[in-house]
Amino acid sequence: MSTSQEPARRVPDSLSRVSIATETGGDSGEFDVTAPEETNGKDPKAKLGPTGRPLREIPEPPELDRHGPARVVAMCNQKGGVGKTTSTINLGAALAEYGRRVLLVDFDPQGALSVGLGIQPHELDQTVYNVIMERSVDVEGVVRKTSVDNVDLLPSNIDLSAAEVQLVAEVGREHTLLRVLRPVMDRYDYVLVDCQPSLGLLTVNALTAADGVIIPLECEFFSLRGVALLIDTIEKVRERLNPKLDITGILATMFDPRTLHSKEVMARVVEAFGDTVFDTVINRTVRFPETTVAGEPITRWAPRSAGAAAYRALAREVIAR
Ligand SMILES: Nc1ncnc2c1ncn2[C@@H]1O[C@H](COP(=O)(O)OP(=O)(O)O)[C@@H](O)[C@H]1O
Ligand SMILES: [Mg+2]
Repeated sequence: MSTSQEPARRVPDSLSRVSIATETGGDSGEFDVTAPEETNGKDPKAKLGPTGRPLREIPEPPELDRHGPARVVAMCNQKGGVGKTTSTINLGAALAEYGRRVLLVDFDPQGALSVGLGIQPHELDQTVYNVIMERSVDVEGVVRKTSVDNVDLLPSNIDLSAAEVQLVAEVGREHTLLRVLRPVMDRYDYVLVDCQPSLGLLTVNALTAADGVIIPLECEFFSLRGVALLIDTIEKVRERLNPKLDITGILATMFDPRTLHSKEVMARVVEAFGDTVFDTVINRTVRFPETTVAGEPITRWAPRSAGAAAYRALAREVIAR
C-alpha cells in the first residue's frame, strides 16, 4: 500500500504552464488558428484549441495537506481501442505528479492496465476477481505498488471474465465494487477504474462505485455510435443505483491535427456535448503504443513529450472540475 509521506514530486514549471498540449510531429505544438470571427467576438488574438474553443489557462492544482476520501472515476466506453486504458494509466500518473494519491483499478479481464504498468497478469495468484468474489480476500492484500510513486494498482486477469456471470446471483450485485473499495478509500485522492469494452454488470459496478465518468472518444467517424447508449446507461445507473454519478468529461483521443477528418469529428463531438468535452485533446502518436511495451506511463517514458504534457493538462482539468 502507498502510505509514504515523502513530498510529492513537483512538476517542472516549464511543463506545468503548457496550456493545451498537442503533438503535431515537428510543428510548434499549438494550434495557430486566430480568425477573429472564430473567437466569438472575445479576444481576437485568443488562440483556439483543437476543440475550436479558445485555449484556457488551467491553473496549477492546489497542494494537498491531507489525503482522501477518494473521488472515484470510471473510464468508460463500450467501444474497444478508444484509449480507456492508456488514459487511465497516464491520467493516474499525471495526477500523482501533482501530489495526488491514486489507485488504478483494472476492471477488464484482458488485464491491459496491469500489463501497461509492467505486470504479467497471468502470473498473479490474486486479482480484483478474488476481491470481489471471495469475502475472505481483502482489497489491501491484493493492491500493489507500481513503479510510479503514489500510484497503486488493483490488478486483473482473465479470471475476471467469470465474475460477470457469477455476480448475477449475488445479493447487491451492482454494489460489489463499491463495497470492496470502501476500506481503502481514505488512502487515495483518486480511484480510476479502467472498464472493459461492454456495458455489462462489471461496468455497471464501476458506474455504481463512481462519482464521475470520463468517456474517451476516438476522433473517428463511427466513434459517436454507441455513445447515446452509454449515456443512457449512465442515466439509468444514476436514477436507480447511484444518484451522485456525473459525467466528468468527454476526452477526445487519437486526434490528428493534420486531417480534416479529425477536425470534423471533433466539431461534431463539441456540437453534441458542449462544455462536457475536455479542452485537453490527446493526439494520435506512436509514443503511446511504445509506453505499453515499456510498461510505464508516458509521463515517465517520455516526460517531455507532448503526450505527457497533454495528460498533465487533463489532470489539471480533472482536478479543477
Ligand atoms: N493517443 C494515441 N495515439 C496512438 N495510439 C494510441 C493512443 N492512445 C492509445 N493508443 C493505442 O491504441 C490501442 C488501444 O488503446 P487502449 O488505451 O488500450 O484502448 P481501450 O482501453 O479503450 O481498448 C493501444 O495499442 C494503445 O497503445
Ligand atoms: Mg482497455
